[in-house]
Amino acid sequence: MTAYEIIRKKRNSHALSSEEIAWFVNGCVSGEIPDYQITALLMAICLNSMNDDETAALTAAMAQSGETLCPSKELGGFCVDKHSTGGVGDKTTLIAVPICAACGVYVPKMSGRGLGHTGGTIDKLESIPGLSTNLSHEKFMNIVRSTGFAVASQSENLAPADKILYALRNATATVDSIPLICSSIMSKKLATGADGIVLDVKVGDGAFMKTPAEAQALADLMVNTANHAGRKCKAIISDMNKPLGKCVGNALEVTEAAEALSGNGCRKDLYDISCTLAAQMLFIAGKGSYEDCMTQAQNAFHSGKAFEALEKTVALQGGNVEALHDFAVMGKPEQSAYVRAGRSGRIMAIACERTGLTAMELGAGRKTKNSAIDPTAGVVFLTDVGDYVSEGEKIAALYSSANCDIEGIVKNAAEIFKIEG
Ligand code: URA
Repeated sequence: MTAYEIIRKKRNSHALSSEEIAWFVNGCVSGEIPDYQITALLMAICLNSMNDDETAALTAAMAQSGETLCPSKELGGFCVDKHSTGGVGDKTTLIAVPICAACGVYVPKMSGRGLGHTGGTIDKLESIPGLSTNLSHEKFMNIVRSTGFAVASQSENLAPADKILYALRNATATVDSIPLICSSIMSKKLATGADGIVLDVKVGDGAFMKTPAEAQALADLMVNTANHAGRKCKAIISDMNKPLGKCVGNALEVTEAAEALSGNGCRKDLYDISCTLAAQMLFIAGKGSYEDCMTQAQNAFHSGKAFEALEKTVALQGGNVEALHDFAVMGKPEQSAYVRAGRSGRIMAIACERTGLTAMELGAGRKTKNSAIDPTAGVVFLTDVGDYVSEGEKIAALYSSANCDIEGIVKNAAEIFKIEG
């Protein structure tokens, strides 16, 4: 077998065998295959695609390229995981995962950092002073055993093939390939070893998948790939044409999740999707019919049991639990400014990707791989799609402690809102 033959086969639109795919992935990780041959194959896949069997084989080879975990064996119970393909204001992990834990299902969750204009759970949780997501395996498992869930950052040795391929894809315009996105996401999910996986595939202006057809194709392929590897899997497709909930930004999103779980109000879109994801996770874990699981999820949300699980996990991960009650503990922004309605009328749309980019400019996301995050930065919507507003009314608040031109950002942020009347 040679890399040249494999590249030529895919260039000519032929399906690769699982042996060829595993051989190539091993060669990427061992360093025997040079970057120019890896990127040639990535481009051939991007242009000529892969069938379901090839995608499953690529995912399995990438999952097996590093350490693989088997948490259910260690914990003696079914383990479930959730994954979102990336959104703006998406703090559902901070709500749905404690709900599942409160309902008696283990969630050993490995999460990522923000990517582009989208946020990441690790950055959000690290807004809580003292909280560590860099947990030893033993500590991670002990916290899950004790409270039902823990959230750790992905270890360096988890699916290392994905790190190599992702960096090359990013630099060679080969990110936008459904089989490559599927294998990238699912290799990490398979390596973390959950028995059941619930996927939240986002679609719309603020998501990586812009059309329902693309989102459905990715969802179907990811479910098929998980099933192929013997895992239960369910995908939901959810709207990302407007930011989820009212806050976008790291500490702001922790605040919104804590307010929701402690009975201090939750926007309907955030409540609905968080309970749907939790109910799907409980259902996949065999906790009853979907309707029963939805009732259990809603009870855990309203009774304060999910909030208790969140408080316990935050404390065990070293975080100051006071931050879930007194949000100023996560820091006070040094600058703030209001976006005001440019005219009277009805808010018809709130541009989602643009909101994510505005939060990034304020300091909530990384402009370069190594830039620091400002936990206090972000956007709070004071209005929602469908609301009537008067000219000059405050419609959103912007916060930042970063060195940024907040007045300039406010002017541009007015364009996030489409007001007609
Ligand atoms: N997230 C990933 O982890 N990989 C992709 O390819 C796209 C989104």
